[in-house]
Amino acid sequence: MVSKLVSLVALLTINAVTAYDQQLAFNQSAIQETRTLDEIYAAALAEGSTITVWHGGDEKDQQNSLKTAFESRFPGLTLNLTVDLSKYHDGNLDQQLAVGDVYVDSIILQTVHDYPRWKQEGALLNYAPVGFDKIFPDFKDVEAAFYGVYVLGWSNVWNTAKLSGNATAGPKEFPDYLDPIWKDKLVLTYPNDDDAVLFAFNLILQQYGIEWFDALLTQNPRWVRGSATPAALVGASNNTYAATFTSSIGTASSPPYNVSFPEQGTFVSWPQHGAILKDAPHPEGAKLLHNFILSEGYQNSTGRRSVRSDLPGPNGLPNVMEMPGTNPTAFVKWMSDRNAVERLRFFFEDRLGTPQGLSPLIDDL
Ligand SMILES: *[C@@H]1O[C@H](CO)[C@@H](O)[C@H](O)[C@H]1NC(C)=O
Ligand SMILES: *[C@@H]1O[C@H](CO)[C@@H](O)[C@H](O)[C@H]1NC(C)=O
Ligand SMILES: *[C@@H]1O[C@H](CO)[C@@H](O)[C@H](O)[C@H]1NC(C)=O
Ligand SMILES: *[C@@H]1O[C@H](CO)[C@@H](O)[C@H](O)[C@H]1NC(C)=O
Ligand SMILES: *[C@@H]1O[C@H](CO)[C@@H](O)[C@H](O)[C@H]1NC(C)=O
Ligand SMILES: *[C@@H]1O[C@H](CO)[C@@H](O)[C@H](O)[C@H]1NC(C)=O
Repeated sequence: MVSKLVSLVALLTINAVTAYDQQLAFNQSAIQETRTLDEIYAAALAEGSTITVWHGGDEKDQQNSLKTAFESRFPGLTLNLTVDLSKYHDGNLDQQLAVGDVYVDSIILQTVHDYPRWKQEGALLNYAPVGFDKIFPDFKDVEAAFYGVYVLGWSNVWNTAKLSGNATAGPKEFPDYLDPIWKDKLVLTYPNDDDAVLFAFNLILQQYGIEWFDALLTQNPRWVRGSATPAALVGASNNTYAATFTSSIGTASSPPYNVSFPEQGTFVSWPQHGAILKDAPHPEGAKLLHNFILSEGYQNSTGRRSVRSDLPGPNGLPNVMEMPGTNPTAFVKWMSDRNAVERLRFFFEDRLGTPQGLSPLIDDL
C-alpha cells in the first residue's frame, strides 16, 4: 500500500518549473506597437492579401468565427487559417524552421511548452501588440516573443433533455459523475490523446484519488478523440450521451446545453498562446491579427474569459484569475515537464488502451 501511494505521488508530482522568468526586465529589443488598427491594416494590405495562421483545435470549422470577424473588419485580407491538433501543428512548424522555409505567419497553439524553445531558437518575433501591457503577467513572455491571446478551458456540459427527475440539477463537482444516474451516459475525451484533458484527469486524481477513476470506469463512459466530440454527442438528440467534463461550449448555458464549473474541485483553464514567426512572409498581417485579437472589442465578443486584466469575465463570471476552482497559470508549468506528462499519459494508456478512431478533424462526430 505504501509503495503504491509513493508511486502515485511520483506520477502526479509536478516539478516546480518556472515557465517564464518573471525577473527579467522587459527587453527593449521587443518592438512595442503604437499604430492604430487602421494604420497596421494599410501596411498589411500593402504587403499582400493572405495571412497564414495555424491554430490548435480539433474541428476544421472551430475558428470560423475568428476568420469571419477578422475578414469583415478588414476587407481585402484573407485569413488562411488551418485548425489541427496543436501537437501535430508544432512538429510541422519545426520542419519549416529546420529547412528555413517558413510560410506560416502566426501560430496559436495549446502546446505552450513549445514557445520558450522556439524563442530560444530565434524563431519568434519579439513584438508587443497594443494591449500587451494589460495581459496578466503570468500569461506572457517578458520579451513579447509569445503571450496568451484568450483563455480556454473545460467545464461541465450536460443536456437536461436527456435526463429526468432530480438529475436535471446536473453535475457540479467531479464526484457527481459517479452517481448511478450517469451510468452509460458519459462521453469523455481520451486523456492520453490531449494534454489539456490529461491535465484535467491529473488534477482530479490528485484530489479524489485513483478510486475516483476506478469508479468512473464502472459508469462505462464512451471514450472519444477530440474535445469537441463529447459536446457534439451530448448535444445530439439521437443518442443517450448526456454529460461530459472534457469539452467546452463557452461560459454560458445555451440550449440544448447547460454549463457549470466545479468550485471544490479544480478544472483546467489555460491561456492559448500566440506568436508571430520572425521569418513570417506577412509580418504586418500577423501583427494586425494579434492586435485585433487582443483589442477590447474582440476580447469582449468571444464569450471567453480574457487574458487582459482590465476586462471583466463574460456572462457575469469573475475574471479568470479570480474564478474559483481553477488556476489558469498551472497548465504552462505542468506542460513544461514532458517527462511527467509522458508518465501520466502511459498510466492512462495502460487502463484505456491507445486512442481509437480517426483524427477528430476528419471523423464524422
Ligand atoms: C534582448 O533580445 C535580443 C534578441 O532576442 C537578444 O539578443 C538580447 O540578448 C536580449 N537582451 C537581454 C538583456 O536579454
Ligand atoms: C494556406 O495555408 C495552407 C496550410 O498551411 C498552405 O498550404 C497554403 O499554401 C496557404 N495558402 C496561401 C494562399 O498562402
Ligand atoms: C437523485 O436521487 C437519488 C435518490 O434519492 C439519490 O440517490 C441521488 O444522489 C440523486 N442524485 C442527484 C444528482 O441529486
Ligand atoms: C445524429 O445526429 C447528428 C446531428 O445532430 C448527425 O450528424 C449524426 O449523423 C446522427 N447520427 C446518427 C447515427 O443518426
Ligand atoms: C439550463 O440552461 C437554461 C438556459 O439554456 C436555464 O434556463 C436553466 O436554468 C439551466 N438549468 C440548470 C439546471 O442549470
Ligand atoms: C469591453 O467590456 C467592458 C466591460 O463590459 C467595457 O467596459 C468596455 O467598454 C468594452 N469595450 C469594448 C470596446 O467593447
